[in-house]
Amino acid sequence: MNQHILSVVDSNTSLLQCPICNKDFEGHTTQLVCKNKHTFDVDRHNYINLFHKAVKSHYHKNLFQARSHLIENGFFQALESVIVRLLMEELERKTSLTILDVGCGDGALFTNILLSLRWDKRQVNSFGIDITKEGIHYASKQDSQTTWLVNDLTHLPFKDQSIDIILNTLSPANYHEFKRVLKPDGMIIKTIPNARYLEELGTLQNKQPYSDTKVINLFEEHMMLCKQMQVSDKKHLIDEERAEVLQMTPLAWGNQLTVENIRQMDNINIDLQILVGQPK
Ligand SMILES: C[S@@+](CC[C@H](N)C(=O)[O-])C[C@H]1O[C@@H](n2cnc3c(N)ncnc32)[C@H](O)[C@@H]1O
Ligand SMILES: [Zn+2]
Repeated sequence: MNQHILSVVDSNTSLLQCPICNKDFEGHTTQLVCKNKHTFDVDRHNYINLFHKAVKSHYHKNLFQARSHLIENGFFQALESVIVRLLMEELERKTSLTILDVGCGDGALFTNILLSLRWDKRQVNSFGIDITKEGIHYASKQDSQTTWLVNDLTHLPFKDQSIDIILNTLSPANYHEFKRVLKPDGMIIKTIPNARYLEELGTLQNKQPYSDTKVINLFEEHMMLCKQMQVSDKKHLIDEERAEVLQMTPLAWGNQLTVENIRQMDNINIDLQILVGQPK
């Protein structure tokens, strides 16, 4: 077990709370134990599973594998740069940050962002959370300095006002919980797809383009929208990446697309929108 996770279990539990009874955790060597004696094991792969029962998810190992490989090879580089710039600006203001990636999946995107921040010797305390054990299993191998947690974003195992930044990339949101755990001067950086995101897959299937209006309206109902930024990129795909693009996204679920269908597809559109908000 690595030193970081042991130090989290031993002492850095002050930000976490028991997902069952909301009580504080007491330090322990290989387990988190709350004041009401609910216990959660630290997995031998160095993540903490905060569920007592297995949770079913539509997201599976193949999706995380494909996603992680594409992201390691720069699929979301343009997006990562913008998020890193936003975080750097925050670090000018605050000198150290506790960042929580909600719905972090395989953790590849968060890890790339953290590597850029750490390269600049910035003070970051990082947590990633996802409902899918397979995703967190992957994530725990990506970065040993982040505390990876398996749990549900609709009931975050964090204390009130404990987090500076929530990242929420292409994942569901729960603004009630986000507002509870964010510090009053905290910030959410939410990335959503634009209509032309991976449009080559949508076009091939004659799918209706996705509309972002509802997502933005819901964001604005709960958060003060401070910035809205567009990220447009086109990625060139090589052979194995075509199959990975089909696997990496729920957009391609339930359709009959095969690698054969997209053999001519050389480029894919990465058209995203970042919403930056503060609790209101
Ligand atoms: C499209 S993936 C995005 C993963 C990652 N943020 C990225 O951009 O590569 C959506 C993620 O949301 C997670 N998710 C869905 N519902 C969730 C919930 N209720 N609590 C925590 N994570 C959830 C899924 O397991 C999945 O990993
Ligand atoms: Zn408890």
